[in-house]
Amino acid sequence: MHVPALGLMRLYDTRQIFEMTDMLESIRSSPEDHVSNYPRPAAATPLNPRRRGIIIGASDGIGASLARRLAREGYTLALLARRADKLELLCNEINQTAGESRARAYTHDVAAYENVPPLLRQIVADLGGLDLVVFVAGVNYPPGGMDKYNFENDRRMIEVNLVGAMAWLSPIAEMFQSAKAGQIVAIGSVAGDRGRVGNPGYNTSKAGLATYLEALRNRLTRYGVNVLTVKPGFVQTEMLKAAQGATPFTIPVEKAVEDIWKAMKKRKQVIYTPSIWRWIMLAIQFTPSFIFRRLSF
Ligand SMILES: NC(=O)c1ccc[n+]([C@@H]2O[C@H](COP(=O)([O-])OP(=O)(O)OC[C@H]3O[C@@H](n4cnc5c(N)ncnc54)[C@H](OP(=O)(O)O)[C@@H]3O)[C@@H](O)[C@H]2O)c1
Repeated sequence: MHVPALGLMRLYDTRQIFEMTDMLESIRSSPEDHVSNYPRPAAATPLNPRRRGIIIGASDGIGASLARRLAREGYTLALLARRADKLELLCNEINQTAGESRARAYTHDVAAYENVPPLLRQIVADLGGLDLVVFVAGVNYPPGGMDKYNFENDRRMIEVNLVGAMAWLSPIAEMFQSAKAGQIVAIGSVAGDRGRVGNPGYNTSKAGLATYLEALRNRLTRYGVNVLTVKPGFVQTEMLKAAQGATPFTIPVEKAVEDIWKAMKKRKQVIYTPSIWRWIMLAIQFTPSFIFRRLSF
């Protein structure tokens, strides 16, 4: 019988989770200087079993909106991104709305891979455990034309969108596997479903992420861990401003977050948001290469 993440994670106290993370990595230093000054969130108790989550890439767009939503649903959250000022404002807003400390900011660049193990350890200690990890961080640098190539930008997209996700989700997968509980959510893209002419580097980063998540799912489902891949179409955020060409079926960020939250509750595996993209991408995936090569999107 499937055991819900929440129930089992409550069996693990902070000390046990420390031991698990210690097993994963030898900790070099504590990144105290990266952390906001908010008081630690209230500890989970049997009568007030708080769910605890990390959102990586929470300063803006989908991540920030999801943080507001999860806080409203009762999660206590560690919010990570590079822009400390935006994170602080968001934590202030969330904590004031909740009337208690529900969110703490941690300044972090996901491409600083060596910082992940000590930061993860610190967050687990600050939150008193961990039930959920959401990897949202992403960058999109269109090369600016079908005849343009830019290796530096392609490398950065792979470093952030793919290797950044692996740097976080690898130790977390190991931790959740040991705990036999937990939920992993990551934001891919419809762009990962097929290689297209507009932005090969971005396509590749999201295709790699989708495959990595599928592999994690195949490993972790048997341990009761849910892995959800979210594939948005066009969402109204800062990132969309970089998009070139038409952006059909664009949705507000709140709609994407609603879809993600519903899928999380149902412990789904892969969703498209909005859902019409499932059918569009099915048609695109089945388009034969000799036709696809002639298209210009
Ligand atoms: N908007 C769309 O139409 C769309 C469509 C499909 C998929 N997506 C995906 O959805 C995710 C969220 O995008 P969004 O639309 O919400 O974009 P956004 O508004 O630009 O937000 C991107 C977030 O990622 C963080 N981030 C970027 N690079 C980072 C790094 N090196 N280290 C840590 N955090 C980093 C940013 O924070 P800092 O800049 O403060 O670090 C920000 O919080 C991305 O993975 C994107 O690829 C978006």
